[in-house]
Amino acid sequence: MSRLIVNGGNPLNGSIRANGAKNSILPILAATIINGGENIIHNCPDLKDVHSAIAILRHLGCRVEYSGGTIVVDSAGMDRWDIPDDLMREMRSSVIFLGPILARCGKARMTYPGGCELGPRPIDLHLDALSKLGVHIQEEGGEITCECGPLQGRQINLSLPSVGATENIMLCATACQGTTRIVNAAREPEIWDLQQFLQKAGAQVQGAGQHDITIQGGVPTRQPTEHSVIPDRIESATYLCACAAAGGEICVQQTIPAHFAAVTELLAESGCQIQVGGQEVRLRAPGRLHSVRPVRTMPYPGFPTDAQSPLMATLCLAQGTTMFSENIFESRYRHCAELCRMGADIRVEGRVALVTGVDHLTGASVKATDLRGGAAMVVAALAAQSASEITQIDHIDRGYDHIERAFAALGADIKRQA
Ligand code: UD1
Repeated sequence: MSRLIVNGGNPLNGSIRANGAKNSILPILAATIINGGENIIHNCPDLKDVHSAIAILRHLGCRVEYSGGTIVVDSAGMDRWDIPDDLMREMRSSVIFLGPILARCGKARMTYPGGCELGPRPIDLHLDALSKLGVHIQEEGGEITCECGPLQGRQINLSLPSVGATENIMLCATACQGTTRIVNAAREPEIWDLQQFLQKAGAQVQGAGQHDITIQGGVPTRQPTEHSVIPDRIESATYLCACAAAGGEICVQQTIPAHFAAVTELLAESGCQIQVGGQEVRLRAPGRLHSVRPVRTMPYPGFPTDAQSPLMATLCLAQGTTMFSENIFESRYRHCAELCRMGADIRVEGRVALVTGVDHLTGASVKATDLRGGAAMVVAALAAQSASEITQIDHIDRGYDHIERAFAALGADIKRQA
């Protein structure tokens, strides 16, 4: 199993370009099923989760080619509507295929999705909403079997703004007769990107980025559909957190600064000099960071849960105490014990973590507990005195495109060992 070896203590300097967003490309790949033809998607990151999504598309009978950051999906030959258990367990996002398979085939069969261990991650909101649109759902022995009656658009009130449920409803609703209205929809930028793709494919979807999204179903789709994925706001935020912790000055380019303003605001509060211009954010680290007001994870545009662990790794080195409050997932502090191995001072009580800054972190042998927890390990290891070994990095590869190359290009001493 591969691992990362990091000799910490080098400041980071230079410019880096953000990759396409993982959380955009995955639902968009699922959406390519809908038009039954050719889809050309640009700015695709090379991630383990992207390869898992491609494996699902190929299993379904789609032709997929991936080269030079562009994925071409031809869904004309799709002749299956099931996803086998091994592919479902690869990632949580495999559940996003449910809505489009139903829209295209009128039936679907899959097991429960896998993904990061962040506490219980139910899919009740997805299934409730789909059944309201006319899908008959049977759950037995971990398998979900769906048959569509006449699909009829209607109003769906989400009890919480789930990103995945919003996407599944948008995708299934393209095949419903009449209008579907999602009330309390997720407002994440990736939902807007999915809407852009669907509009290019001829679907009538409006309202992404606001609380209400409307889908006028049963409209003929178009092909070929060509789209470029938005930049990854969490990857951009991770680079900045790393520079804040390790020192130096970096510029993240070809990104959308407004998408992660909640993170840059806190980095500025911690003493970093931040300059935002057009499609880039420049950060210069201070001599010593200081603690910031409580960090409370919230749905977009609040502070993203996915940036909680990288920012925590940074603030392990800040003077004073910062309180983190995780409000999206029940169990998203598994990285804390690993950070403590490197000398961090963190106390976790339920959904709250109290981080008291230390003078320095010491290199250690640590593991990536999950995707973003793994990113936190990289941030901490880059800033630590002496060498660290990070294991279980397949978690990191799910969401970061060759993380070691990105940081090595900024001057870090980081290598992957097979
Ligand atoms: C997406 C992101 C993930 C991010 C998360 C929250 C993708 C591929 N992944 O995950 O990176 O951390 O949003 O911003 O886009 N919930 C239910 N029932 C459901 C669905 C969700 O109770 O049917 C709960 C979840 O347990 C969680 C909360 O709602 O507590 C938010 O989850 P959701 O927004 O659905 O996250 P994902 O779409 O899984």
